[in-house]
Amino acid sequence: MPSPLRHFIDTQDFSREELLRIMELIRLLKDADKNGACPRLLQGASLGMIFEEPSTRTRVSFEVAMTKLGGHALYLRPGEIHLGQRESVKDTARVISRMVDVIEARTLKHQTVLDLVANATVPVMNGLTDYNHPTQVVCDVFTMMEHKLPEKSLSDLHVTFVGDATNVCSSLMMICTQMGMHFTHVAPLRYQAPKAWQDIARANIKKSGGSLTVTDDVDAAVKDADFIYTDLWWWIGQESEIPDRKRAFMPTYQVNDKLLARAPAHAKFMHCLPASRGVEVTDAVMDGPRSIIYDQAENRLHTEKALLAYFVYPRLKFASPNVVSNYRTCVDDFLHASELVG
Ligand code: CP
Repeated sequence: MPSPLRHFIDTQDFSREELLRIMELIRLLKDADKNGACPRLLQGASLGMIFEEPSTRTRVSFEVAMTKLGGHALYLRPGEIHLGQRESVKDTARVISRMVDVIEARTLKHQTVLDLVANATVPVMNGLTDYNHPTQVVCDVFTMMEHKLPEKSLSDLHVTFVGDATNVCSSLMMICTQMGMHFTHVAPLRYQAPKAWQDIARANIKKSGGSLTVTDDVDAAVKDADFIYTDLWWWIGQESEIPDRKRAFMPTYQVNDKLLARAPAHAKFMHCLPASRGVEVTDAVMDGPRSIIYDQAENRLHTEKALLAYFVYPRLKFASPNVVSNYRTCVDDFLHASELVG
């Protein structure tokens, strides 16, 4: 009996305990990989990766994760499959589900990933939408656990997100409050997290503890921060807003040495990447001793391995060696009888 079909679309669909279990699995698979012993749990399995937008980290981490687990990944980009042009999301999801064991999708609209979920018969993993980026933030909290002061627990940690209310900001706000951490979003009023997100985060806090602060006061936002996180100030499709956005954010909300100096000495810098160096963050911070951006990026690989193992491995069928051998004999006999094999 295969395990029930579950998707990874939003951390809000999972309990704090289950997210922590996934992070334990990241730890295990990272250690295994570092020792050249990544278990080939997904031997013979395939991942279909749908990308409506460009990607470096998500694409490479999912593809390499599948290879390390013994499986295979297919990169399906616009123009190469019919999705949205000559074929509905529904038919795409139903057809691909008959051929692969898991689907990863980066879609322009969150609704598209929900439509894939509604029609897929294999797990769907959200590789970023216009609403959220759950694989990124599971990786981020795992990275924080690796880099926090040893005497602090998760519930002691203050995470300050500086800048635009991006999809990463939304997801980070959700997971941090699910974990009982203290989350601050600091931005000019117009670019702050909307009330709907804050309502979800406050409901998380009621269950798990922690706190949420949304402010435009950078000094107050960074003074207790353990981690300072930023993201791009604009994304594809927002080019016409660049002058307004630059005026609103620069220089107050740029993560530079002056801003970091106002945070505790142990505070670390994080960025989901890609970054616009010299815009939302300076080279000095990106390349400085407090930056953990490349550890964070590497952890995307270990996170994807854990998510794939967690959601896909329990659903795979592995026949006993006897059954495999019987089928091999039947097929060999058939090919010999057909005089296809000498
Ligand atoms: N952080 C992230 O998702 O990077 P990519 O856009 O390169 O996948």
